[in-house]
Amino acid sequence: MKIEGKTILVTGANRGIGQALVTEALSRGAARVYAGTRQALAHPDARVTPLNLDVTDAAQIRAAAESVESLDILVNNAGIALYDDLSERAALEQHLAVNLFGTYGVTQAFLPLLTGSQGAIVNNVSTMALAPFPFTPAYAISKAAAFNLTQSLRALLAGRGVRVHAVLTGPTDTDMTRGFDIPKASPASVARAIFDGVENDEEDIFPDPMSASIADSWRNGAVKAMERENAAFVAAEPTAA
Ligand SMILES: NC(=O)c1ccc[n+]([C@@H]2O[C@H](COP(=O)([O-])OP(=O)(O)OC[C@H]3O[C@@H](n4cnc5c(N)ncnc54)[C@H](OP(=O)(O)O)[C@@H]3O)[C@@H](O)[C@H]2O)c1
Repeated sequence: MKIEGKTILVTGANRGIGQALVTEALSRGAARVYAGTRQALAHPDARVTPLNLDVTDAAQIRAAAESVESLDILVNNAGIALYDDLSERAALEQHLAVNLFGTYGVTQAFLPLLTGSQGAIVNNVSTMALAPFPFTPAYAISKAAAFNLTQSLRALLAGRGVRVHAVLTGPTDTDMTRGFDIPKASPASVARAIFDGVENDEEDIFPDPMSASIADSWRNGAVKAMERENAAFVAAEPTAA
């Protein structure tokens, strides 16, 4: 899947990794980039079409899907990460609403277009889907759920020609990690690695030095093998996603 000439939708496109993904898609020659944001966005490149898209708002998702004619790649990037200690159920619900159900809702709405184009879904998850950071447990739970969703969608949509990628992103220098004094990758380098991963057809993309350090053990590990074995059951008996 080459980015050149493709139509791409990025959610959470106004800052951080999402903004970098828009810039990277344009520099790789994307034909059109839909930039999903919660507030009005102006972009100097005529190939960018702003989309009013709060991923927790079913009416906005519906309107966005109706306004897009064709789509090759959906990047579910919008996300929130707040400190919590699991003492409040509301914090868990808030993270699930954006990071899990937002990803789910947008994916379902654009699935007919992606099936039509034999396109791809790219879910920006997190290494915390695999190992939580206990200062943001609700976030980690929502990312674990979003990763599991990604794995099931991958199996369910394979027979319909839609590729589904998980991005196991590590620490990246955005508003989300402000306050964490740790080595961080630049959003631009992460965006490059994400589209490299899509172009190289990597199911699970590890786009920064920290996540890349676990890529081989993940790809060659027993859990990945089990994911493939489980997915083979769907291939044998396809179901509607
Ligand atoms: N930075 C990291 O270290 C890191 C690591 C692993 C994974 N990730 C993941 O990468 C993705 C992007 O994160 P980032 O680091 O770029 O964070 P960021 O700079 O905080 O940006 C988050 C983006 O998500 C948008 N967003 C939040 N809630 C939304 C909603 N309900 N509907 C639509 N958009 C919404 C924000 O829009 P507003 O401006 O309107 O708030 C913003 O554009 C997230 O899914 C995050 O979990 C980041």
